[in-house]
Amino acid sequence: MNVLVVGSGGREHALCWKLNDSAKVDRVFAAPGNGGTAREATNVAVKDDDIDGLIKLAKAEKVGLVVVGPEAPLVKGLADALAAEGIPCFGPSAYAAQLEGSKAFAKNVMRAAGVPTAAFGVFDDAEAARAYVREKGAPLVVKADGLAAGKGVVVARTVEEALGAIDDMMVAKSFGAAGARVVVEDALVGEEASFLAFCDGENYALLPSAQDHKAVGEGDTGPNTGGMGAYSPAPVLPEAKYAETAELCIRPILRHLAAAGHPFKGVLYAGLMFTKDGPMVLEYNVRFGDPECQPLLMRLDSDLVDIMFACAGGSLKPDMVRVRPETALCVVVAAPGYPGSYPKGMAISGLDEADKLPGVKVFQAGTKVDGGKTVTSGGRVLGVTALGATLSEAKAKAYEAVAKVGFEGCYFRRDIGDKGINRTK
Ligand code: AMP
Ligand code: GLY
Repeated sequence: MNVLVVGSGGREHALCWKLNDSAKVDRVFAAPGNGGTAREATNVAVKDDDIDGLIKLAKAEKVGLVVVGPEAPLVKGLADALAAEGIPCFGPSAYAAQLEGSKAFAKNVMRAAGVPTAAFGVFDDAEAARAYVREKGAPLVVKADGLAAGKGVVVARTVEEALGAIDDMMVAKSFGAAGARVVVEDALVGEEASFLAFCDGENYALLPSAQDHKAVGEGDTGPNTGGMGAYSPAPVLPEAKYAETAELCIRPILRHLAAAGHPFKGVLYAGLMFTKDGPMVLEYNVRFGDPECQPLLMRLDSDLVDIMFACAGGSLKPDMVRVRPETALCVVVAAPGYPGSYPKGMAISGLDEADKLPGVKVFQAGTKVDGGKTVTSGGRVLGVTALGATLSEAKAKAYEAVAKVGFEGCYFRRDIGDKGINRTK
């Protein structure tokens, strides 16, 4: 069978790599892909949100399964368009994708389904939002309703900061239409973890816990990024708690969407915060996290195509997802200046040397092949990932591999995994 992976990040490189493992897969295509997917798949220059172009490509290459990496095409209706053509798709419908595409939708579903989440208000009117902020007092979190590339969330420590965020989103319209509506919610305190489940509309099969590092700087300082590193499992959510946590944050959503006539098929990502009152859901994503996908797929010990087909076809069984006992840890190597502006086109050295280390895989994100050389083309450039018997061992192996790669001005956080290591001490 031929498989088409949609997207161009480190997540998509990992997806292509893992899909290639399956004896059922003949060819993997990536649209548009990157320098890493070019090593595992055939890149085709179709944009990830060009729905007509993707359908044409899927038909031309007799694709038997489309795997959608990022959220934007799902929110735009790629899964629905593929369904109309009878092409199996791993990823939810546009209706179900609103869980990520609209924070207000997600909060209302959480409330209706009884999922623990921060108290909130939804506002289409800036004055009403300001009044809510003044009444509630700080700290508060202000979120643009729509997709804002991970930048539409402001954790405000003061009332003034919250009011500023409202002005920025609703009056200055810095996120365009995505900020016309805002969610204002209570600020929660605790350690975060990512908990992902394969879903077939009714049943789920859990992946192990993971933890992202969203802030650019060590010790979780500085502006937020797409994620500077991740590892799995995350000791803050141990295996003994998976079942009850899933019943709290996965099952109610599946039931709610199925009852609404829009069953969720794909991977549901719950962004959790472990507060003193128990786990609370901060957000849902309707796709794999990036970089969480890289360590999760490195641990996956079963056929990804079987799982994805079962999700699309409604025949998922929990034991289809088998996971290696080791810990996997991914360190993102970024371009100088990221998450602000950064240069592109820098030659990357040491890729093959790092890849040769046992238990190491270098996933590429913002890269492309230019004249036979791999050069940078984005902010998050590499996701250097390693398996180890323990979290400390995975960390040591990943950083040993990081030391072998390089490009001008590259940087990375040196503390990926430390929250987990400290917790297990
Ligand atoms: P979101 O896109 O909703 O996950 O928000 C991005 C980040 O903002 C999260 O990973 C948290 O670090 C932070 N955040 C979101 N909601 C809250 C909240 N209610 N309380 C505290 N921090 C939050
Ligand atoms: N790593 C967080 C995300 O993919 O949204």
